[in-house]
Amino acid sequence: MSFKEQQVKAKNSAESYWLEQSELVSWYNAPKNILSTNQSGWTDWFADGELNSSYLALDYHVEQGRGEQIALIYDSPVTNSKETFTFIQLTELVAKFADVLQKQQVVKGDRVLIYMPMIPQAVIAMLACARIGAVHSVVFGGFAAKELAIRIDDAEPKVIVSASCGIEISKVIPYKPLLDDAIELSSHKPSSCVLYQREQLAADMIDGRDEDWDTLMSTAKGIAAVSVKSTDPLYILYTSGTTGKPKGVVRDNGGHAVAMLYSMKNIYGMNTGDTFWAASDVGWVVGHSFIVYGPLMAGCSTILYEGKPVRTPDAGAFWRVCEEYKVNALFSAPTAFRAVAKEDPDAALMKDYDLSHLKRLYLAGERLDPATYHWLKDKTQLPVIDHWWQTETGWSIASTPFADGSNEELMLTKAGSAGLPVPGYNVEILDAYGEALPANQQGTVAIKLPMPPGCLTTVYKDEERFKSSYLSMHDGYYVTGDGGYFDEDGYLFIMGRTDDVINVAGHRLSTGEMEESISGHSAVAECAVIGINDTLKGQVPFGLVVIKNGIEMTDEEIAAELKGKVRADIGAIASLKDLIIVERLPKTRSGKILRKTLRQMIDGQEIEIPSTIDDPQVLEELSPRLTNVTS
Ligand code: COA
Ligand code: AMP
Repeated sequence: MSFKEQQVKAKNSAESYWLEQSELVSWYNAPKNILSTNQSGWTDWFADGELNSSYLALDYHVEQGRGEQIALIYDSPVTNSKETFTFIQLTELVAKFADVLQKQQVVKGDRVLIYMPMIPQAVIAMLACARIGAVHSVVFGGFAAKELAIRIDDAEPKVIVSASCGIEISKVIPYKPLLDDAIELSSHKPSSCVLYQREQLAADMIDGRDEDWDTLMSTAKGIAAVSVKSTDPLYILYTSGTTGKPKGVVRDNGGHAVAMLYSMKNIYGMNTGDTFWAASDVGWVVGHSFIVYGPLMAGCSTILYEGKPVRTPDAGAFWRVCEEYKVNALFSAPTAFRAVAKEDPDAALMKDYDLSHLKRLYLAGERLDPATYHWLKDKTQLPVIDHWWQTETGWSIASTPFADGSNEELMLTKAGSAGLPVPGYNVEILDAYGEALPANQQGTVAIKLPMPPGCLTTVYKDEERFKSSYLSMHDGYYVTGDGGYFDEDGYLFIMGRTDDVINVAGHRLSTGEMEESISGHSAVAECAVIGINDTLKGQVPFGLVVIKNGIEMTDEEIAAELKGKVRADIGAIASLKDLIIVERLPKTRSGKILRKTLRQMIDGQEIEIPSTIDDPQVLEELSPRLTNVTS
């Protein structure tokens, strides 16, 4: 079927289209009920299907005779180590760790929180949870103790799996003190923690709570995958919303498996035995979908890269990995390639490597800016595909598809565009009243319900928030939180968030969370954090702070303390660029801070001053201080 035919079929006959796609999955019990509505009014996909996501990613391939094929490649320039695992080896390790979890009293439906760096044990722990029907919740290693504590309290894990340390460029980050602090801060306490001791740093263990990974594995016996319902949760992944509290995106098993296999074939054009590399982190959705589940379910070799695009050791790192493992498709964030282009503008280091196996480059996490698109296309001479998605969907909403289903001939890519809506996603651009806008007019990007398989099923323990965040703005639509437009050829341009979420080096962060951290300082009366443009990281946070009367600290001292506080509360990834101390913040008469206006002033754009502004004089006072802000 051509792409266009697929789009039409998925729109007009969603059930039969997805029934066909579901046949890619090796179910224990194949579903007959394809699309149904559950008690909370949301779509259930494949409700009566039964399967196991760990079985699909591992045992299934061993049964198919691919046991000796490499499943997982661990490449770690920061520790100078490399390791490969065949499907047989990975299955054995996962089956054993599933036994470890069971012996820690983890049963189907229990949550297991995984706070780990990019090491194979993280993947093993995720797949072991899936094997016994436990629900994993991976927390990105860059988050600080307070953020971790919030997630512990929300997910209420029975067990936490962690490691002694993470390794960043030339520095060791001790994870264990962060974990201990987080458990101290949280109201919920796990019954045990399983800790993987890395040779770079040994962690102190707490008697009666902490268990050693290697010791437990040495006596573990491999156990088989259990059957779970299609609608049973596979994982919870927290993502930033507009408030200080992250949202626990819940993913099911069945819809997710179908979406993963569908994506590997139709979006990435991968075949069994190919090598797929998503240079991301298992703490983000890209890592869940396309380091772990997608490639393994599709019988591909996947790469777990513990390094950076630059400085580990140089800007040729990505090309070195592509050559060494004969990577067929590479997926990364635009910021990574901006870092490479900055250090090696002529891509001289690329010439040292044989990239003949590399067919296509995929970019996501933020908009692929036209300059980086052209640089990549020019230097690699490969198709460069920007594709748009979010934690909530788990796979791409828009991409540049193959024209005819042969997985060879791509449709046209356009600089600055995330491509065409993928079959199953009925994307519309709406105005404030929910009316569809014509081509070239920017509005809210929304998806007409039902969503295709694999998308979030709810916000964990918060049905109301699920509805208010995504469904209540426009009846019958999921609202993505992004703004954008279609051009006259139906290509979608995603131009940025319409809410207070920002994207810093491909990491989704909430300015509300940073404001909460800053407001928590005793000297602060009020503050606003906005995302400002940055040539490397896309956006970086910038703060404006009003100080209480009578505080005897210099502005510099306060700024340094506040930057340190954001780092300690959220993590180094928050990278608060700078902050200034101001007399007043611009607000509407109802007290809402005019963040968009502030952003426009800093970015030198035309300023839209809302008619509801309380005192326009505030903007005039601020103007000279904001025009000098550069990133
Ligand atoms: N654990 C602990 N700390 C972490 C971390 C982790 N997993 N990841 C990042 N950090 C820390 C860094 O060490 C750094 O700390 P510092 O300020 O003390 O030096 C800080 O967080 C900021 O890191 P980062 O955002 O990575 O910036 P950078 O300047 O070190 O590197 C890039 C810039 C562009 C090379 C890097 O951000 C990058 O590779 N981005 C790609 C991101 C990506 O793949 N996102 C997934 C989307 S698909
Ligand atoms: P996350 O949930 O962390 O994956 O972040 C999702 C958000 O990142 C989206 O809502 C967009 O704002 C942004 N994003 C991701 N991919 C793209 C893209 N290809 N183009 C534009 N924005 C993107």
